[in-house]
Amino acid sequence: MAHSQSHDKFPAPMRVLHWSMAFLLIGMLAFGLYIHELPLEDPSKFLLYEWHRAFGVLAFALVIVRLAVRLNASAPAVPQGIAWYERRAAKVAQILLYAAMLGMPLLGYIASSAVPEFPGVPPLNAIWFFGLDLPLLPVEKNYDTTKVFITIHKYVGYAMIAVIAAHAAGALKHRFLDKPENDVLSKML
Ligand code: HEM
Ligand code: HEM
Repeated sequence: MAHSQSHDKFPAPMRVLHWSMAFLLIGMLAFGLYIHELPLEDPSKFLLYEWHRAFGVLAFALVIVRLAVRLNASAPAVPQGIAWYERRAAKVAQILLYAAMLGMPLLGYIASSAVPEFPGVPPLNAIWFFGLDLPLLPVEKNYDTTKVFITIHKYVGYAMIAVIAAHAAGALKHRFLDKPENDVLSKML
C-alpha cells in the first residue's frame, strides 16, 4: 500500500471544486435567507429567486462532477495523529455535506415544480438556467406539496449551516491548535 505523506494534497480539480462550491453554497444559504425576508410586494424577490434557482441547479451539476472526480481520485490520508473520534466526526460531516449538496437542489426543484398559480405572482412554467428553460418535474400543482418541500429545504439549509460551521471550525482547530502534522487545511489549499 502506498504510504501517504502528510504534505500530500487533494488533487487540483478537487481543490478547485471544494472552494468554488464552498463560495457558491455559502452564498446560496445567505441569499436564500435574505430573499425569504423580502416582502411579496418587492418585485426583486421573484427576480432574485430566479437567480437562486439557476445557481442552485449549477450547484447540483457541480456536485455531480465533484462526486465523479471524488470516486476516481485518491484523497490524501487523514493524519494518524488525529483522534479516532475526530476522524469519525469529520467523515460524518463530509457525508452530510454531500447529502445536503445533492438534496437541497432536488428539494427546491420539486417545491418549485409544484407551485400553483397565485394572483399577482408571476406563474412558474420552467426553471430559468442562465438562458435555458429547464422543464418542471411532473408533479401535481399543489400548494401543500410546495410548502412541505420548501419547509424541508429550509430546515436542511439550517442544518447545513451548522455542519459547515463545525466542518470549518475543525479545519481551523487542526491548523492552529494542533500539531503541524495534523494540519489538514494545507491539503485543501
Ligand atoms: C445547494 C443549493 C441550494 C441551497 C443551499 C438553497 C438554500 C435556500 C435557503 C437557505 C432558502 C431560504 C429558506 C427559508 O428561509 O424559507 C431557500 C429558499 C428557496 N429555494 Fe433554495 N437552495 C438551493 C437550491 C435551490 C434550487 C435548485 C431551487 C429550485 C429550482 C430552490 C428553490 C427555492 C425556493 C422556491 C425557495 C423559497 C422559499 C420561500 O418561500 O421563501 N433552491 N433556498
Ligand atoms: C468555509 C470554510 C471551509 C473550510 C475551512 C473547509 C476545509 C476543508 C478541509 C481542510 C478539508 C479536508 C479534510 C480532510 O483532509 O479530510 C475539507 C474537505 C471537504 N469539505 Fe470543506 N471546508 C470549508 C467549507 C466547505 C463547504 C461549504 C462544504 C460543502 C457544503 C465543504 C465540503 C467538504 C467536503 C465534502 C470535503 C471532503 C473532500 C471532498 O470530497 O471534497 N467544505 N474541507
